[in-house]
Amino acid sequence: MTLAFAHELAKASGVVLKNYWGKLKNIQSKSNSYDLVTEADQESEAIIIQMIQDAYPSHQILSEESGLTEKKEAEYLWIIDPLDGTTNYTHQYPWFAVSIALYHEGSPILGIVYNPIYEELFEAEKGKGAKLNNQTIQVSKTETLEKSLLATGFAYNRMQTKENNYQEFFHLTNRTQGVRRCGAASLDLAYVAAGRLDGYWERGLAPWDTAAGILLVQEAGGIVSSYENAPFDPYSGRILSSNGKIHDPLHKQLMEASRLEN
Ligand code: IPD
Ligand code: CA
Ligand code: CA
Repeated sequence: MTLAFAHELAKASGVVLKNYWGKLKNIQSKSNSYDLVTEADQESEAIIIQMIQDAYPSHQILSEESGLTEKKEAEYLWIIDPLDGTTNYTHQYPWFAVSIALYHEGSPILGIVYNPIYEELFEAEKGKGAKLNNQTIQVSKTETLEKSLLATGFAYNRMQTKENNYQEFFHLTNRTQGVRRCGAASLDLAYVAAGRLDGYWERGLAPWDTAAGILLVQEAGGIVSSYENAPFDPYSGRILSSNGKIHDPLHKQLMEASRLEN
């Protein structure tokens, strides 16, 4: 399996996302009126799926808009978010990406997160490090929460659940140099990998939001865990990731915020 093929997928998706940029005609709601899908999401996904099926017909694919292909017991699984940051995209806020990951027997072996507007392609291959536009990247060396810049996000069902992350956002905003909410989970993880952010946490995520980004962080020397600082489970919806140095204090503060919530 080559990273070159995953590049082709990302670039093909990037062409679609740039073509529809500022020209959307069809914006629809999904689970609620804030959860959107557009013709750009759908076309990006269709192209990626077609290319994978042509090249690797035995592989299984899990993608946001189409779900899981029916091949059971496949050794390889692609996990795709064809447009991460759809809300930003519909407002022409240029912070979105396509996220492409390949898993082998349950573990990530390739991950790409590509922002076609900034022309930034983040990539990682298991055991071979992480890169941004072909230059090696590393997580930051920030040692304390007080000196950290973090990111987080809020799920589309935030109005209907107490698990809305508001208390955590408030709590960490008061204990760090800032908490950003930029609106694309895959890029949040890519930015942790590149050392632009020191940590990131979120609740209510889907596997395609994090599948590629977690490998970027790990290969750049960072840590990815569950929200509770146990091994990460992509289906749990919760993630905590960091440069490693601030992982324990970040976890501790998140737990303290959760207790305040209840
Ligand atoms: C969303 C983004 C956002 C996160 C949401 C995700 P989408 O993905 O990653 O940052 O806060 O939970 O659903 O819907 O734009 O692909
Ligand atoms: Ca997403
Ligand atoms: Ca998406």
